[in-house]
Amino acid sequence: MTKIKKIFIETYGCQMNFSDSEIVASVMAGEGYESTPDINEADLILVNTCSIRENAEQRVRRRLQNLRSLKRKRPGIRIGLLGCMAERLKEKLLEEEDTLDVIVGPDAYRDLPRLLKQAETGQKAINTILSSEETYEDIIPVRYDSNGVSGYISIMRGCGNFCSYCVVPFVRGRERSRDVNSILKEATDMYEQGYREVTLLGQNVNSFRWNDEVSGTINFAELLEKVARIDSKLRVRFATSHPKDLSDELLHVIASYRNICKSIHLPVQSGSTAILGKMNRGYSRETYMNRIEAIRRIIPGCAISTDIITGFCDETEEDHLQTLSLMNWAEFDFAFMFKYSERPDTLAADHYKDNVPEQIKERRLNEIIALQHRLSEKSNKKDINSVFEVLIEGYSKRSKEHFAGRNTGNKMVIFPMTNNKPGEYIHVKICSSTSATLIGEAF
Ligand code: SAH
Ligand code: SF4
Ligand code: F3S
Repeated sequence: MTKIKKIFIETYGCQMNFSDSEIVASVMAGEGYESTPDINEADLILVNTCSIRENAEQRVRRRLQNLRSLKRKRPGIRIGLLGCMAERLKEKLLEEEDTLDVIVGPDAYRDLPRLLKQAETGQKAINTILSSEETYEDIIPVRYDSNGVSGYISIMRGCGNFCSYCVVPFVRGRERSRDVNSILKEATDMYEQGYREVTLLGQNVNSFRWNDEVSGTINFAELLEKVARIDSKLRVRFATSHPKDLSDELLHVIASYRNICKSIHLPVQSGSTAILGKMNRGYSRETYMNRIEAIRRIIPGCAISTDIITGFCDETEEDHLQTLSLMNWAEFDFAFMFKYSERPDTLAADHYKDNVPEQIKERRLNEIIALQHRLSEKSNKKDINSVFEVLIEGYSKRSKEHFAGRNTGNKMVIFPMTNNKPGEYIHVKICSSTSATLIGEAF
């Protein structure tokens, strides 16, 4: 009998990377590899990496140091590096990190079995070829780390927006949409297996576009509607939306279906039109505000979250104040906030100076975080005494006597356990809140 080989996958970066790791697990399952949550019993360790900011790469470099000692103890194991760092650094990584046996870019995961066979012979193996077509549409992800209730579905890959600070178009290649039929099939299969929430993923889901003779042309609003129609008990979420492409048509679809969650992640990056221009975002402060007004008008009560970069090239104090005032005006429910990190070979690295001193970046970031903390707290306080429909995802991290799930606005709700099971919907009345969570009781 051949021994079943064990694979351990560690993932950094965005939801798309987590979704890719499930594809990788599926490719490797075809080769007889079983996923394990215990790194110490793994024959193969794959690290799926992120390049978005310098500190994301540094984290992986430090992790590789730990893996080096693990490999010294167990020389038989193979270690591979996947994802965006693999794509950005290519062969250089093989020279710099001698623990690595295999390097695979985001469009080359089908080639993993061949690369590993090469690595088994002691030779290092690499494939970082980007594709203009690969969407892995026929690969059924192995959801090895899933709660069985909510899962991701990648609907497109790559990005063609070339925001001047961003490495994604270089490491993920050209934007391409996945076959609409394969997306609907995957969502339907998930529903039948007991999943009650799917999140449709892409770097800019609004520019999803599929065309074939039978389906005709399908845009994102139409795709979302088709997924929502699979079953009214299947919740649908999506990320990320780009402000320049957020249509009223899409907002009307979101408003029309109860099971499409009322929560939009709409990264603004900066509140200053001058900085947005330099960032090549394709919208001004006013157009962004106009989109927020459209959301509030068409989907009253919709949660809105954002991403903000502070300290971008030439950002003045006035620009920074504009970001703070926009945040105050928009009253974001939640935000991811970052200091600008220059990425080699991007448009900003080539054309602008990373000239905001580190202490100023730090101070501005702290001000932004403090403001968002107050806004999130205020948004959560407003929910006290409201009753929400919550999809139970599992136990609370802190206590086995509490369930955790989210409301339509993507807020985490914690409440004392009932006789229900994960995957069921329940009404919860909110009694108290923190800036991060709502706490309530079954209603
Ligand atoms: N496609 C999405 C976001 C992708 S990256 C979008 O366009 O909104 C996630 C977030 O990382 C971005 O929204 C941005 O806020 C941040 N980010 C990207 N590049 C960065 C950089 N060089 N330095 C700091 N933050 C960055
Ligand atoms: Fe990067 Fe801009 Fe594409 Fe988002 S839209 S992935 S920030 S280039
Ligand atoms: Fe990072 Fe790549 Fe995602 S750079 S944010 S893992 S697309």
